[in-house]
Amino acid sequence: MAGVAIQGIRKGFGQQQILRGIDLSIADGEFVVFVGPSGCGKSTLLRTICGLESADAGTVMIGGKDMTHVSPARRGIAMVFQSYALYPHMTVYDNMGFALKLAGLAPAAIREKVMQAAAVLRIEALLERKPKELSGGQRQRVAIGRAIVRQPEVFLFDEPLSNLDAALRVQMRIELKNLHRTLGSTMIYVTHDQVEAMTLADRIVVLRGGVVEQVGAPLELYQKPANLFVASFLGSPAMNLIAGKVEAIDAQQMTVRVAGGALVPVAARRGLVVGAGVTLGVRAEHMALQAAGDNGGMHVQVHAAELLGDASYVYLTPDSGATQLIARVDAEALWQNGQTARILVAPDRWHVFNEDGVALAE
Ligand SMILES: Nc1ncnc2c1ncn2[C@@H]1O[C@H](COP(=O)(O)OP(=O)(O)OP(=O)(O)O)[C@@H](O)[C@H]1O
Ligand SMILES: [Mg+2]
Repeated sequence: MAGVAIQGIRKGFGQQQILRGIDLSIADGEFVVFVGPSGCGKSTLLRTICGLESADAGTVMIGGKDMTHVSPARRGIAMVFQSYALYPHMTVYDNMGFALKLAGLAPAAIREKVMQAAAVLRIEALLERKPKELSGGQRQRVAIGRAIVRQPEVFLFDEPLSNLDAALRVQMRIELKNLHRTLGSTMIYVTHDQVEAMTLADRIVVLRGGVVEQVGAPLELYQKPANLFVASFLGSPAMNLIAGKVEAIDAQQMTVRVAGGALVPVAARRGLVVGAGVTLGVRAEHMALQAAGDNGGMHVQVHAAELLGDASYVYLTPDSGATQLIARVDAEALWQNGQTARILVAPDRWHVFNEDGVALAE
């Protein structure tokens, strides 16, 4: 078993800097998920860890050994790609055993490992089929099986489920989680899918422009994003953001005047003074709606309501015409387009970001 430690990793293609100094320490047996916008360097980082790309600077340690200049085959890593890249003319059995055959293992040893992996993945019945005779989910399992037989210390997955339909993704997600539990190997996983990231990860790494923005447990990132980028990247719908200015502040509480002029009570943050510009953030599920009255507060117009069954998303346009907000409310609350409502948020539910977009602690 092996942890992965990377330090000061830089990588560019031509003039373009893609990875700008990445430091990460991944514990033995940990499941770490990389997320970030398209082009931020997730795949490049994964490929650098497994040795398919060589870093311009920095070190890659695997299991305590410096692997920076070691060939991919000798790093004890297996990578599973989005395109499963199965050999079409080979059976499932041969696809899974091929790397072992190349490595010179005896047929009996290959058989044992392939059968073991097939049992873990429940594909014993498919071993004589060719890839074209398999469903997407079955192909995905074969691709993972091909990685498992090599008994790697570390698995790298680059969006392995993105070709599957929604139902199958859910099923494979659960199987991957179980696989991780069974094998206990270190897993590093890239995905665009928020739910995959939240449910699979022990820790999530949020990348942007080749830099790590934040690392933490899924709930920690969701509940305490370190900056505006992480706040708006994680969570669906994205966190509601409203620009404002501190009007008054004491040790416990402050009042923020938001665009449009309404005064909003917010739990005080350290380091702020009257007149400071801030961005307030609130998750859709922490925003309640009330019929508008003369009761002050922030007024909004209902712009659309989506009934999801278990809850409704209400799209709101503030009086000020500022950016649209989304509230998640009770399914029974029937809001009509054009209706005016008042937003209610508990003072300690607001996230507060300074003018540099950095989250401020209470
Ligand atoms: N071999 C290469 N040569 C030149 N540029 C490359 C090469 N590989 C990747 N890039 C560039 O590096 C940047 C990061 O690419 P990368 O594939 O790591 O992004 P990503 O975060 O995985 O994105 P996605 O979510 O779209 O898969 C992109 O701008 C890409 O065009
Ligand atoms: Mg990629």
